[in-house]
Amino acid sequence: MVDDVALTLRPAGLPWEVAGSLYVAGTTAYATVFAVDPGPGETVVVSGAAGGVGSIAVQLARRRGARVIGLASEANHAWLKGHGVVPVAYGECVAERIRAASGGNADAFIDTYGDGYVELAVELGVRPERIDTICDWAGAARVGARTYGEGAAACAVVVGELARLAARGELEVPIARVYPLERVRDAFGELERRHAHGKIVLRP
Ligand SMILES: NC(=O)c1ccc[n+]([C@@H]2O[C@H](COP(=O)([O-])OP(=O)(O)OC[C@H]3O[C@@H](n4cnc5c(N)ncnc54)[C@H](OP(=O)(O)O)[C@@H]3O)[C@@H](O)[C@H]2O)c1
Repeated sequence: MVDDVALTLRPAGLPWEVAGSLYVAGTTAYATVFAVDPGPGETVVVSGAAGGVGSIAVQLARRRGARVIGLASEANHAWLKGHGVVPVAYGECVAERIRAASGGNADAFIDTYGDGYVELAVELGVRPERIDTICDWAGAARVGARTYGEGAAACAVVVGELARLAARGELEVPIARVYPLERVRDAFGELERRHAHGKIVLRP
């Protein structure tokens, strides 16, 4: 028996792959944006900006009127630009490129990649309470950053709201690839390479 408050309708026309991606990636993205609370006139930096969580987080941050800088490889820059995000390549000297893109003024940082981005955010002058990471618990503990993720927002209300936005074409949920269940190993292999643009979906 499922409680009715745990259920939400899939809007007509919303593809199953998109609907199925909202519970983890969508609610996690929602939680990260809620955690750092970007507003109009502010600048938020997002690492892993074209990934499963990042691609949704950048759009939700843009909807709040913030300027969004997305860290991604060159291949994803056109997609980010198309969503009003300023793309910046990660790698060596990324701090200088972010400073150049932000005019030296980053207000918030959403980290979906790990590997030192919370420390980078502090170096950029972002206050710890406006840094959120979904994968670097040690880094967060070191600098006092937030760790809001799926657990903070995974509920029918948030899934329903994201589904409504996606069905109305106000939120794009990129689907990197759909694998049949028997190719689960290939799906995890692609996930582990960490360069998917959007969600990797397993279809039962
Ligand atoms: N705490 C939670 O509630 C929660 C929930 C969901 C996921 N997670 C975790 O969050 C992380 C992200 O999940 P995801 O599904 O969004 O991952 P994903 O789709 O695999 O995203 C990977 C992204 O990282 C980018 N990337 C690769 N190398 C990078 C680098 N050096 N610097 C910056 N970005 C880089 C890639 O961009 P390019 O392709 O442009 O290189 C790609 O878009 C995973 O560790 C996952 O386990 C946590």
